[in-house]
Amino acid sequence: MSRTVYVNGEYFPEEDAKISVFDRGFLFADGVYEVCSVTGGKLIDNQAHLERLQRSLDELKMDAPCTLEEMGAIQTEMLKRNELTEGLLYLQVTRGAAERDFNFPPEAKPSLVMFTQAKKVTENPVAEKGLSVITLPDLRWHRRDIKTVQLLYPSMCKEEAKAKGADDAWLVEDGQITEGTSNNAWIVLENGTLVTRQLSNDILHGITRRAVMRFARERQIKVEERPFTVEEAQGAKEAFVTSASAFVMPVVSIDGKPVGSGAVGETVKGLRKIYLEEAGKL
Ligand code: PDD
Repeated sequence: MSRTVYVNGEYFPEEDAKISVFDRGFLFADGVYEVCSVTGGKLIDNQAHLERLQRSLDELKMDAPCTLEEMGAIQTEMLKRNELTEGLLYLQVTRGAAERDFNFPPEAKPSLVMFTQAKKVTENPVAEKGLSVITLPDLRWHRRDIKTVQLLYPSMCKEEAKAKGADDAWLVEDGQITEGTSNNAWIVLENGTLVTRQLSNDILHGITRRAVMRFARERQIKVEERPFTVEEAQGAKEAFVTSASAFVMPVVSIDGKPVGSGAVGETVKGLRKIYLEEAGKL
């Protein structure tokens, strides 16, 4: 059955959903996006995603295609039309179609696209096994706080990880881990403290990162926001990543070295459980 895809005010069968070749998202990667998980027919932490989208738009001086309330209403309609109870909702705003010019064309009208992906997000077998990651230099631009569609370098890194038999890559800059290719990176110290890099332009300000941090602190689990090295991560008790699609996902090896026992640890298992329990209320 064909999905229903939203493009600029209309709902189309996916094969009829089209965007101009002059769209700046296509020509310049001049666009921003959000990925939201859906469980039990509900978007998780959607208000936070919409607020981050607004921030990305503001940072790029890009007009919003509609208000955040209107966007929320379209999201809800998309879940309904696609009968999506579990999976992902993808949302993208680009600066729109205009004659090719590096400068921002004042006449361009922003484009809004949404599509759904039905898949199991809560019961994920990878969470039982954990991820193996390799480390690679972080060669992305320095505004990683803006969630742009410039995803070629992360794609290249995921390809390199796959070629080396790993699941994903963690990115390294000045000897410290910034984040994963499509997730935030965390370690668990021997004393149970969680460590993840502090917010700056070096990383995406993850919505899941923020929620996990809150849930941890509410349970008297300490969280330190600071950079950490590959060696510290390899010597940590446990490691994990967070993202809207993976939630809390254990990392069991880094560059072939087991983290802790090399199996999924109790802290990360517990954090995933907490997130899954609390996510429905976000
Ligand atoms: N990726 N860091 C990067 C580089 C990301 O691309 C993502 C999300 C995150 C986690 O952010 P959040 O918790 O808000 O999802 C961190 C999404 C899921 C993607 O591109 O598919």
